[in-house]
Amino acid sequence: MEIHRFEKIWVGAALVLIVGFIVTITYGAVGAGVAMVSDSGGTVDPATLNEHPEFSDPGVRQVGENHYAVYVIAQQFIYDPGTGQPIELPAGSTVTFYVTSADVVHGFSVVGTNVNTMAIPGQVAKVTAELPDEPTNYGIVCHEYCGSGHHEMAGNLQTVPPSEFSLEGSTGSADVSDDAARGGEN
Ligand code: CUA
Repeated sequence: MEIHRFEKIWVGAALVLIVGFIVTITYGAVGAGVAMVSDSGGTVDPATLNEHPEFSDPGVRQVGENHYAVYVIAQQFIYDPGTGQPIELPAGSTVTFYVTSADVVHGFSVVGTNVNTMAIPGQVAKVTAELPDEPTNYGIVCHEYCGSGHHEMAGNLQTVPPSEFSLEGSTGSADVSDDAARGGEN
């Protein structure tokens, strides 16, 4: 069968495009360091967070020489800790966030870092980031529509020079929102 020269060129070009699309998608899936939010953080009962060994007292823990864990509860329309008083961490440290929700699906994005996850009731999202050496104030925003106050749901992460960091000062923010989290008992 005789195939016209132009027909061959177009078939060839189409094949190159198809291969290109497959390569692009494959690279995006496995080559670019993009990971789906995993449930590796485990599951929790959103109704009994106040009895959970970590989420009953959300905040910063030191888990390594320069590695911190931060337990965060998202709920309409605050982060505990994070809203009202910033989460404080030493600049240049490694941080692993464990984020869950006490009510509906929220977002948890630390703007300017790779930390960007959903906060799903019943699930614990686990995200690790290397914080830059430069002390910085990062905004935390909710990027999942969660109700009438969604647009106001925000917080802060403040990194400070390691010499100025103390674990005491960084867990105090829980006071602001513990009332809400625990149904007002004080
Ligand atoms: Cu929480 Cu939107």
